[in-house]
Amino acid sequence: MKESSTREVYERISESATWVEQDKIYRENPYDSSLYELELGVVCEAAPHNGVIVELGSGWDPFVELLDGKDDAKLVATDFSYNSLRIVRNNGNGERVSLVCSDANNVPIRDLSADMVIAVGELICHDSVDPSRMLMEAHRILKPGGLLVLGYDVKWSLETMWMLVDSLIGNRIGYVTTSEQMLKLVKSPDGGLIRWRLPATREILNMRVFTHKEIRSLLRRVGFRILSQRSALLLAGLIPTVVQQNTRNRIVLSTARLLSMLDKLLGRMPGIKLLGGNTLVVAQKEQP
Ligand SMILES: C[S@@+](CC[C@H](N)C(=O)[O-])C[C@H]1O[C@@H](n2cnc3c(N)ncnc32)[C@H](O)[C@@H]1O
Repeated sequence: MKESSTREVYERISESATWVEQDKIYRENPYDSSLYELELGVVCEAAPHNGVIVELGSGWDPFVELLDGKDDAKLVATDFSYNSLRIVRNNGNGERVSLVCSDANNVPIRDLSADMVIAVGELICHDSVDPSRMLMEAHRILKPGGLLVLGYDVKWSLETMWMLVDSLIGNRIGYVTTSEQMLKLVKSPDGGLIRWRLPATREILNMRVFTHKEIRSLLRRVGFRILSQRSALLLAGLIPTVVQQNTRNRIVLSTARLLSMLDKLLGRMPGIKLLGGNTLVVAQKEQP
């Protein structure tokens, strides 16, 4: 069977009612909702009071909350999925933000025109994204001193351990990465590829997980200075994310919520925060 490209997958989901179901799962399960909360907190803290904020890979849910109380700020939401941006417009959010249908590897936005760039929601992990090209694009459009908020999945975490176990027992936990891929990933000194099934669908994506060292060196090479780093999915990683997304068991869900709350503290602690499954970095474009 022919594999769909990442773009085809997102177009398909967002042109049918599947996106509503997927969105509900994202909003309700402990893993995705706590990650979203962390992203929103970091993005709001870093956002300027005025100026242009560009969100890459916004999907159907750009950070419109950023504009609350900021009359002089402007949000430009970009994504290569036309159908996702159509949902933004139909939901009425298109009036508060400008929508640009574009590939994050090649953004049709002027040099030095943005005060902040957001690239979260694991955008950089998708196989449709060339990590250094996307970061160069973010760097190109940012003004000197402008901020980038970048989110990525981390290779060495409890989540990877679950994926490895799952691949060795015939994907019975619910992940979809093969044992060959997992062994290749574990053996590699860097990050590597995994497969990921989107909740509420049968759609599978090829995704990349990164080591912190890889991300640090990519950011430095492009011309960013890392200002801060926060992580999610530390203790909450004791419960596989695919279980958190799919179970209706109240005890499991409450435990995952409790662990995610503890992670809010742990995710800031030096050393420990490097062990989370998801990391958010705030980086600054170096001044010339
Ligand atoms: C997991 S969704 C995240 C959406 C949103 N940022 C969030 O956190 O809810 C990833 C989004 O990235 C978009 N995407 C993936 N590769 C892209 C690329 N090369 N250029 C632009 N958008 C891309 C997809 O269309 C999808 O909307």
